[in-house]
Amino acid sequence: MKRSKVVIEARSLYKTYSLGKLKVPALQDISLSIMKGDMVCIGGRSGSGKSTLLRQLSLIDIPDEGSVLVGAELTAELSEKQRSHLRLARLGYVFQEYALLPELTAQENVMLPALMLDTKMPVATVTNRARRTLELVGLGDCTEHRPNELSGGQQQRVAIARALINTPSIIFADEPTANLDSLSARSVMNTLRELNKKHGVTVVFVSHDPDDVKYATRIIVLDDGKIVDGARS
Ligand SMILES: Nc1ncnc2c1ncn2[C@@H]1O[C@H](COP(=O)(O)OP(=O)(O)OP(=O)(O)O)[C@@H](O)[C@H]1O
Ligand SMILES: [Mg+2]
Repeated sequence: MKRSKVVIEARSLYKTYSLGKLKVPALQDISLSIMKGDMVCIGGRSGSGKSTLLRQLSLIDIPDEGSVLVGAELTAELSEKQRSHLRLARLGYVFQEYALLPELTAQENVMLPALMLDTKMPVATVTNRARRTLELVGLGDCTEHRPNELSGGQQQRVAIARALINTPSIIFADEPTANLDSLSARSVMNTLRELNKKHGVTVVFVSHDPDDVKYATRIIVLDDGKIVDGARS
């Protein structure tokens, strides 16, 4: 049998926040592997450590102990600059509140990570790539719209396109539907599922919503910073 390819691996991650004298153990001994083509939902109660886990896996934050591997690359050994480069080139991140720049058009927002990754790439090439990526998320007609001229669901799909522009091996999304009405939430989840099924994009998303959870091919549940279901590491 062909062995699935591991895209991201976490080995015994620990993360503790300090609030004055209080120590909050947000992650305790988390080990898991995400395989190519997975569509993973991370669930669990509020405060169980979901966002903290997503930030460690996506290299936005650094664990106190343990390691994150992107492919076979051990990220703890990288410099800050190398980490940023790896994140930009290989990992996409979608925020709950979209985090689009209001002054820029949809297309310009999507172009940004490509321009940051390769400052020598001709603008025309980046423009074309941004257009194609917006088409991929069903927004080919909205390239010139600014965020305030788009619905919440459309803005989130622009954010997905932005996460996709550098053709990452994985996309992370922290509660991507939490600010959306149910119709827009479906459009965002359908977009993620289509990217996963048709284009083989590996997706890891956080959600409390049972309607979102149905889209997952695998569910990992956290409680008090520990995996209580779905480890398969
Ligand atoms: N910057 C921080 N400083 C101190 N404590 C924090 C910080 N960020 C998170 N925590 C604490 O760490 C724990 C895990 O938080 P986290 O945000 O990962 O949970 P979550 O599962 O994403 O919750 P929610 O569903 O509400 O988004 C919680 O107890 C939280 O209060
Ligand atoms: Mg959270």
